[in-house]
Amino acid sequence: MELDPSLMADLRQVGQDLYRFGLVTSHGGNLSVRLGSHVWITGTGKRLGYLEATDIACVSETGELLGGATPSSDTAIHLAVYRSADASAVVHAHAPHAVAITASAAVFVPEDLEGRYHLDDAPVVDQGPGAAERVAAALAERRVAILRDHGVYARGEDLWAALHWVMALEESARISWLRRSLVALSPAREE
Ligand code: 13P
Repeated sequence: MELDPSLMADLRQVGQDLYRFGLVTSHGGNLSVRLGSHVWITGTGKRLGYLEATDIACVSETGELLGGATPSSDTAIHLAVYRSADASAVVHAHAPHAVAITASAAVFVPEDLEGRYHLDDAPVVDQGPGAAERVAAALAERRVAILRDHGVYARGEDLWAALHWVMALEESARISWLRRSLVALSPAREE
């Protein structure tokens, strides 16, 4: 199975963006792309900011390793998303504001116009047994979902679309956090 150079370029650039924007730590997060009956996915423990072709795995739709690196520990989640949702790419990041602001929420509703326009809302699903199916069910309805206290998963027609939803969610969460902090500091600011 040959990894297409243009797909590798997208994986590398999207990984770099996630790392440079503080959406993953040095070794956090994962990316995948579905091409026909197989899925290219980042290897476990690889640095998304510095991806090389040897860091990528190829798996079947059922998770059988077809070649490359040891696949991400989140492979089952990515494959569940491809089974349930209209997606050709999945991005997983540890967007800090999105994770923090939804610690005890069932859903995140953006308070800013851009976030409401792009995302509507983002479901928050619980960890534990069945989490892959819960993330997949959430992404069948929405572009991005939050796995409580862990991170965010977004799907798209390509990696760039999925990156967009991760970034849109994180920006909305950051705006909500700023708004709530300002109100807490100065309640008179709340209209
Ligand atoms: P992997 O390195 O196995 O992909 O795990 C990273 C991660 O973010 C797990 O949620």
